[in-house]
Amino acid sequence: MKNERYLERCAQLANLADSRVGDSPRVGAVLVHQDRIIGEGYHQIAGQAHAEVNCLASVRPADRPLIPEATLFISLEPCCIVGRSGACTNVIKEHGIKSVVFAQRDSTPGVNGASVAILEAAGVAVTEYPAFQPTLAVNAHRRVMALKGRPFVSLKFAQSADGFLRPADRSADYWITNPISRRLVHRWRANTSAIIVGGRTVVEDDPSLTTRLFPGRNALAVIIDPRNRVSGNEKLFASSQRPLLFAGSERKDINAEVVVMGKELNKAALTQVLTLLMEQRLGHVTVEGGAGILQAFIRAGLWDEARVFTGKTSFRAGVPAPELPAAATRVSVERVGSDLLEVYSRS
Ligand SMILES: NC(=O)c1ccc[n+]([C@@H]2O[C@H](COP(=O)([O-])OP(=O)(O)OC[C@H]3O[C@@H](n4cnc5c(N)ncnc54)[C@H](OP(=O)(O)O)[C@@H]3O)[C@@H](O)[C@H]2O)c1
Repeated sequence: MKNERYLERCAQLANLADSRVGDSPRVGAVLVHQDRIIGEGYHQIAGQAHAEVNCLASVRPADRPLIPEATLFISLEPCCIVGRSGACTNVIKEHGIKSVVFAQRDSTPGVNGASVAILEAAGVAVTEYPAFQPTLAVNAHRRVMALKGRPFVSLKFAQSADGFLRPADRSADYWITNPISRRLVHRWRANTSAIIVGGRTVVEDDPSLTTRLFPGRNALAVIIDPRNRVSGNEKLFASSQRPLLFAGSERKDINAEVVVMGKELNKAALTQVLTLLMEQRLGHVTVEGGAGILQAFIRAGLWDEARVFTGKTSFRAGVPAPELPAAATRVSVERVGSDLLEVYSRS
C-alpha cells in the first residue's frame, strides 16, 4: 500500500509538467528513506534533466549519505538510452541506489523492459506496477501517439444551459463561463502544445488564444479554414508567434505558416492536419471550436477527450453545441463555481 502512495505522489509530480515537456513523457520521481521523502522531482522540459535527476538533485546535503539506502519511486520505467540527456539507469547505478519501484514500462523503442534488465544485472531490486491507474492517465497522450500515430486530441467547449455555443444575437457581449472556469482553461492551455480553431471562430470572435490568465507559454495557434474565411487582419496574425493556417487554397500576404488543405472538412483533411502536428512533435492538441470544427473532429472519430462547460445562462437560440456520440463515457463531473464541468472520453 505504501508503494502505491509514493507512486501516487509521482503521478502528482508528473502532472506539474506543462507543455514545455513536449511529446516527451511526463514523469515524476520520489526518493524515500525509511518512510520519509528525502527527494522529489519531475521532468519539466523536453531534452533537459529527467525526473530521476531532478529528484536526486533536490536531496538536502544532510540527507545525501542516505541515498544508497533509499528507494527510488518513478512513475515510468527509467530510461537506458542516451538521447538529449544521459541514461537514468547510469544515474541510479552511480548513486548506489539498490531499490527502484516504477509503475509502467516506457514503450520508447530501446527501453521497454531493457532498463529492468540493466538494473537487475547491477543488483538493483526492481518492482513494477503496470496497471497503476494514476500514472497510466498521466501519459495517455504517449499511448495515443504510439498506437494511432497522431497527437492526443482534447475537445473543449462551453455551452449555455440550453445547449448553445453562442446566442443568435451577437450584438451584446456574452460570457458562458465564470472567471474561475476561464482561468482553468488557461491552465489547460499551458499544458497543451497547440490550440485548433475554425476559420469562422477567428473571424467572428477574433480570439488571441494566449495563456494570459495562468503562468505558462502560449500554445501554437492552428486555424482550420477550408473556405478561406480569415482576412489576415485578425489578432492571431498580429501575434509574434505565427499561427499555422490550414487554408482551402494558397494564401499570400498573410502572417502565418500556410498549408493548403483543400476545401473539404472530412476525416482525410483532419488526418492531414494531425499528421503535420505530429511531425512537429506536438503530442497534445486542444480543439477549442467552433461548432463546425468540433463536430468534424467528432464525426471523424479523431478525438480522445472532451471537456464541456455548461453555464447558467440560457440563449434560447444560436449556434447549437456539438453532440458527442452516445458511446462516449462521462469520466468526471464537477462544479466550477456556478459552471458544470463534464469530462468525457471517446469510449
Ligand atoms: N462556446 C464556445 O465554446 C465556442 C468556442 C469557439 C467558437 N464558438 C462560436 O462558434 C462560432 C463558429 O462556429 P462555426 O461552426 O460557425 O465555425 P468554426 O467551427 O469556427 O469554423 C468552421 C469552418 O469550417 C467551414 N466548414 C464547415 N463545414 C464545412 C464543410 N463541410 N466543408 C468545408 N468547410 C466547412 C466553415 O465554413 P463557413 O464559414 O461557410 O461556415 C467554417 O469556416 C462562433 O460564432 C463562435 O462564437 C463558441
